[in-house]
Amino acid sequence: MRIHVADHPLISHKLTALRDINTDSPTFRRLTEELVTLLAYEATRDVRTEPVRVETPVSPADGVRLSSPKPLVVPILRAGLGMLEGMQRLLPTAEVGFLGMIRNEETLEASTYAERLPDDLAGRQCYLLDPMLATGGTLSAAIDFLVERGANDITAVCLLAAPEGIARVETDLGGINVPVTLVTAALDDKLNEVGYIVPGLGDAGDRLYGVV
Ligand code: URA
Repeated sequence: MRIHVADHPLISHKLTALRDINTDSPTFRRLTEELVTLLAYEATRDVRTEPVRVETPVSPADGVRLSSPKPLVVPILRAGLGMLEGMQRLLPTAEVGFLGMIRNEETLEASTYAERLPDDLAGRQCYLLDPMLATGGTLSAAIDFLVERGANDITAVCLLAAPEGIARVETDLGGINVPVTLVTAALDDKLNEVGYIVPGLGDAGDRLYGVV
């Protein structure tokens, strides 16, 4: 897996505020969107374009536009939903699919409870949104799901990643011949005994949407 840690003072500044236990939910949501827009800039570095010629007020100019098929953005419910707006700000014409995955809090394994995705993902640039790459179970299962549908170009955008999660995804990817890129704002130290990222930011879903 290609790993890109987006190293920028604005990203570090916003991430620090996100981590802060005193940051309230509305501020947490706004910061998440802003942070994802900055991460989206990195994540879309290889987004496909095609040449186009436009007329400026002065002369013709050669440029590019995003090419077909449109990129597909896939937030993993529920916390990934908080990242969608930030991603769409940079990719307003992208299509959006949804993947509902839940983590069993005892086994820490992920299973799919809902999906709304195209049947054929071959040739689509897919952007998976999941704020916390913790044990790696959810992201790994989500990648498997996309690959089963034919995806062969996957970028995961995560706010934070733990070494254990990266190792798990890399191991699970061993048998899959699909390039996967991870773009994250930071690599944290480790997981604690209940699978939370340390230092992390707590439960991203709860901080975005409350404890329900
Ligand atoms: N999910 C979260 O929301 N936070 C963690 O630290 C780990 C998984």
